[in-house]
Parts: sequence; C-alpha cells; structure tokens
Amino acid sequence: MNNFTFYSPTEFVFGRGTEQQVGDMCLKYGAQRIMIVYGGGSIIKSGLLDKVSASLDAAGLPIIELKGVQPNPIDTKVYEGITLAKAFKPNLILAIGGGSVIDTAKAIAVGYYYEGDFWDFYIGKAKPQQAIPVGVVLTIPAAGSEGSGNTVITNTTTHVKAGLRQPMILRPKFAIMNPELTMTLPAWQTASGITDMMAHILERYLSNTTDVQIGDRLAEGMLMAIMETSEKLMANPNDYEARANIMWCGTIAHNDTCSLGRQEDWNSHAMEHEISAEYDVTHGAGLAVIFPAFLQYASEHNPHKVAQLAHRVLGIADSGNVKEDALKGALKLKEWLHNTLNMPVNFKQLGIENPDLELMNTRLHRLKGEIMQGYMPLDAQATMEIYRLAL
Ligand code: NZQ
Ligand code: ZN
Repeated sequence: MNNFTFYSPTEFVFGRGTEQQVGDMCLKYGAQRIMIVYGGGSIIKSGLLDKVSASLDAAGLPIIELKGVQPNPIDTKVYEGITLAKAFKPNLILAIGGGSVIDTAKAIAVGYYYEGDFWDFYIGKAKPQQAIPVGVVLTIPAAGSEGSGNTVITNTTTHVKAGLRQPMILRPKFAIMNPELTMTLPAWQTASGITDMMAHILERYLSNTTDVQIGDRLAEGMLMAIMETSEKLMANPNDYEARANIMWCGTIAHNDTCSLGRQEDWNSHAMEHEISAEYDVTHGAGLAVIFPAFLQYASEHNPHKVAQLAHRVLGIADSGNVKEDALKGALKLKEWLHNTLNMPVNFKQLGIENPDLELMNTRLHRLKGEIMQGYMPLDAQATMEIYRLAL
C-alpha cells in the first residue's frame, strides 16, 4: 500500500425529510448570505425549491439564485455565477441538484477569489488557494460530487471538458441526502447514475498497486451491492431502501474511501469526457459505452485485475486462463449494463452513428499527454483501439 493523506470533512445528513434541516446546516457552517445554484427546473417541479427556500427563510438567511445549470455544465454559466457572486458576496454556495449543479457551484467558489479566468484552474495554469464553502442538497446519486474534491466543466469555445481536483478546499462542507428526492428521476438518469458510480469504483479497482486488500474488497462489495440493488430498483423505482443504498453508494464510490494507498486509473473517464464534450450525451451513458471496451482492451493487455473482478464479482469460474476469464468478465458486465440498466453499450446505441474518433482522440491526448498513465499506459493508438471497440 502506498502512503496517503485523506481529508474528507463533509458532514452527511442522510434520510427521509432531511432537506428540512438545510437552514440550520447553513447556519452551522457560518453562512450569512447564500447563493443557491440549481438546474433546469426539476427542483421547482418537485417542490424541493419551495421547501429549501422556506427553511432558509426561517433561518433568516438572505439568498440569491443562479438557475439554469445544464447537464455537462459549461463555462458561461460559471462566469455568470462569478459575476453574480461578486455583486452579492455570499459566504456559502448551496448547490441543489446533481453533479452538474455541484460542479458549477465549486467552479464559482474558486473563481470568486481569482483575478484571472477560472478556466486556468482546469487546464493547470493556476492552482486555487481558497474557495467559498459549498453545501449540497443532492437530488441524483451519480457523480459523487457531494463528497468529492472534484469539479468538471466544459469550455464552450474549445470543447474541452476538464476536471479540477482539490480535495483540501473543494469537498462540500455538508451534503443533505434524502433518497425520497431521487424518486422523481427518469429511469434513464437513475441508470446512468448507477453506471457512473460503478465506473468510479472500477477506476480505482483497476490498479497495479499490490497488497491493497481493503480497497479491493470494499470495491468488490460495493459493486456486488450495486448490482443486487439495481435489479430491485429498476423493478420498483419507489423502493425507498433500494434508493437509499444506491444513494449512499454513489457517495462512497467517489469520496476516495476505496482508492486510498493505491494508483488509480481515470483513463475511461477521460475518454468519456471527450464523448460528452463533443456530443453532449449523459456522462453515465457514455461510460456504459466506453467502460466495457476499456475492460475488453485490458483483458488482452493487462488482464489480472479484470480477471479478479470476473472471478469475485461477476461469477466467472477460474479456468486458469487469465486473459480468457478477464474477457468473459468484460462481456458479462457489458451484458448486465444493457440488460439490467437498459444502458447503451456502443456508440450506435448511444445515438451516435458516425462518431468522429480522430477528433476525440486528438483532443484527448492534447489534454492528457502523449501517453496516458494508469493501469495500462495508453498512447494514441491504444485509445483509438478502445474507441473502435465501442463502435
Ligand atoms: O436540471 P434539472 O432540471 O434539475 O434536471 C436534472 C438533469 O437534467 C435531472 N435531475 C436531477 N435530479 C433530479 C432530476 N430529475 C428529476 N428528479 C430529480 N430528483 O437529471 C439530469 C442530470 O443531472 P446532472 O447533475 O447532470 O447529473 P449527474 O449527477 O450525473 O452529473 C453529471 C456531471 O457530473 C460530472 C459529469 O462529467 C457530468 O458533467 N462528473 C463530476 C464528478 C465530480 N465532480 O466528482 C465526477 C464524475 O465522474 C463526473 O465526471
Ligand atoms: Zn463519473
């Protein structure tokens, strides 16, 4: 196991009716003026915005709203938010929604203190030193941003979708998580969210670091629990216990609990970000297309962890042939994503008949370098092969 530091100060308030505590939570973290950030209107339709506003009102907190964050959030909304924040001077940003809303809130939170363009942080030109505290009311279990130190934004000029990872300042102060709030999700979003959290676990599981049994077993257990629970949830979207298990899993899948002390691999995510940046597809659905292809490639080039996954999680018997078992595992996972979650597992099913693979691959390596390090070193030829396997 490698050395590590782990700083995860988020207070999670989980369960039925917890959104009513939002005013008190804001006060607890010293808020006096609040900027609310939300998406395209699901929280208006569900009545959540009214409930949150009432709780903030009862706490005597003045608010300003930034609405209209879109899935695969974009830089222009961040600029709008920074301008609004500079005028209003909030000392807490409250994100009500999912990854896109939370990531926008985090981008505003760091951009607020910076004289230059906030985008500098996302392309490694500058490092943020401070951020306005962020609080969350989560409405979709997927990206894990409620517990992560990450934010991902798309630049509308360059079409680059890039992430910033700063756990010391970007993990939210608190996250309110009521599984009931996720019952209004369309099945597609529920399933895409589940796929995303599975990918977050797998990106950590695919590691060459040895003697990381705790991380491995946590990851395997979570994947098994997700697969078991998803079947119940897809059959009955109003199953509270299934919603609750999936919601909590989305958080621990991405708050680093299962990646401590090990090398991680974020190359499937980087490859997916090119797809959602160019074609504006749902992130989890893009992963359902890329991940099986990535595992298939790994079965040939570095099969040991894929075979372990196949044996321990996917019910593949150990034949003694690592490559063969790994490939069987990759195909079984692909089949499960398609059959249980109704996810697209190739570009065509994702609705992209003729993806511009050259364009995505060129942008990918421009952003990530000639060789992408991780579970397997990937040059442009390797990533192109993976994209082709996903056709
Ligand atoms: O905008 P509204 O109207 O609220 O609708 C949203 C949106 O259309 C809808 N929705 C959310 N909660 C709902 C609901 N509809 C009905 N009922 C509810 N309770 O769901 C749609 C998707 O929302 P979004 O926030 O985009 O989903 P998600 O949480 O999957 O976030 C995806 C974004 O997060 C990034 C992805 O790349 C993508 O841009 N990621 C962020 C990460 C991080 N910060 O750590 C890590 C991830 O790997 C990921 O890259
Ligand atoms: Zn993700």
